[in-house]
Amino acid sequence: MKHQLHALDNLAQDAATIQADALLLLLSEAQIKALSGKAAGKTALGKYLAAALAAKDFSGAKGEVLAAYQMAGFVARRVVLVGSEQGQAAQEAAAVQTALAQCAGKGIGNIAIAGFSHLPAVAGAATAALYGYDLTLAKKNPRAGQALHFYQGKADKAAKAEFATALAQAEGVQLARELGNMPANYATPTHLAQTAEKIAKAGKNISCKVLEKRDIEKLKMGSFLSVAAASTQAPKFIELSYTGAGKAAPVVLVGKGITFDTGGISLKPGAGMDEMKYDMCGAASVLGVFAALARLQPKINVVGLVPTCENMPAGNATKPGDVVTAMDGTTIEVLNTDAEGRLILCDALCYAARFKPAAVVDIATLTGACVIALGGVRSGLFSNNDALAAALDAAGEAAQDLCWRMPLDAAYADSLKSKYADVANVGGREAGSVTAAKFLQRFVGDTPWAHLDIAGTAWKSGAAKGATGRPVGLLLQYLLAR
Ligand code: BES
Ligand code: MN
Ligand code: ZN
Repeated sequence: MKHQLHALDNLAQDAATIQADALLLLLSEAQIKALSGKAAGKTALGKYLAAALAAKDFSGAKGEVLAAYQMAGFVARRVVLVGSEQGQAAQEAAAVQTALAQCAGKGIGNIAIAGFSHLPAVAGAATAALYGYDLTLAKKNPRAGQALHFYQGKADKAAKAEFATALAQAEGVQLARELGNMPANYATPTHLAQTAEKIAKAGKNISCKVLEKRDIEKLKMGSFLSVAAASTQAPKFIELSYTGAGKAAPVVLVGKGITFDTGGISLKPGAGMDEMKYDMCGAASVLGVFAALARLQPKINVVGLVPTCENMPAGNATKPGDVVTAMDGTTIEVLNTDAEGRLILCDALCYAARFKPAAVVDIATLTGACVIALGGVRSGLFSNNDALAAALDAAGEAAQDLCWRMPLDAAYADSLKSKYADVANVGGREAGSVTAAKFLQRFVGDTPWAHLDIAGTAWKSGAAKGATGRPVGLLLQYLLAR
């Protein structure tokens, strides 16, 4: 798909001259008022809007759409008006999604979008709206929108850079969604490794190393291997490096890559277990970020680490009560084999230390408790460093990919005490997302570290079931702001 940015001097006058199969106009309440007011008679758009308002066919209320075919005075074949309320970024994003829904399934080729004032939000939402999963469908979805054209006041250098960033981010989000949606028999650890290698091959300044089981054994990642033990899929440890700033200390991103989580011997209930194919969305977000970095070539250094395997039950599976040893020698009593995410992440966090990182951020669909606490609106943010937490929070706001800081008081670690090992892998039911974070914190020492629990935000259940591509936007904004 091709996306382009165009300058548009004066919406009222020039909207009518935009050539497209469909022209989507996102209009705020203030714009509607101005366009249909005194000067309305002078432009095709003003006349149309004034008439529609008078006839109560359109008021610009939330979610309201007015679609017209071969509208008088307009060059575009179809014109779709959508209200964008106060014209805030999130409101414009919602409006463009609503407008694009009007174009779905009609095989519309050229789509022009105008009237907005938040280009990144609108470009991101428009790209996301056109995504549809069809990898494993015999009949592919008909895709509306061969080309998207964005019209705004300026298309100067700054606007073009902003546009390029938005598109790269959208591409990263799309990759993360596609990987998340892929069934677990397609998105295997091997597939994730191949995807990482492809990203590295296609872009400048990126290298990829995939550690095999024997390498992982040599590194003594006994905790990671204890999760992988009962799967017939080979575990992989993916290491991506993006070098855009010479020898500067990198930010290390660590993504949980459980390609399917049955719970292991602590087997999950059957209902809804299919959703555990999304348990690699942390890994998918890291790959999505690297796809965007490959495109944008910013002057920063980033390392991406992805421990990836399946969590399966079998005769050779890890059992509740087993004690395993992490890379740094910490012994762990596996009281519940379903708390496997932290067991693969702790070894990756130990490994991260060798990069002498400026900061480490891990991303994981880690706990059901986080879904209960924050739902699908905000990811859980845990950090041992206020500046890092503030930077991630600000990045989330900027990208409309929100998070919320959670506590890490020492007392929360009390429930992880074990009689048979240095630490247990689960606490009680209380504060489950916090005790999981406390477990991870043991392995990062004094390094500035943050943990994003995306169990609630990485996918949607129910009717709109599917991967969201979060938190690629948050992570990319954070990295680019450095
Ligand atoms: N992958 C799950 C967490 C999860 C649950 C993600 C629901 C998305 C939706 C994780 O591996 C897990 O099973 N966590 C357990 C931890 C418990 C055993 C302490 C959980 O949250 O129930
Ligand atoms: Mn689990
Ligand atoms: Zn899991």
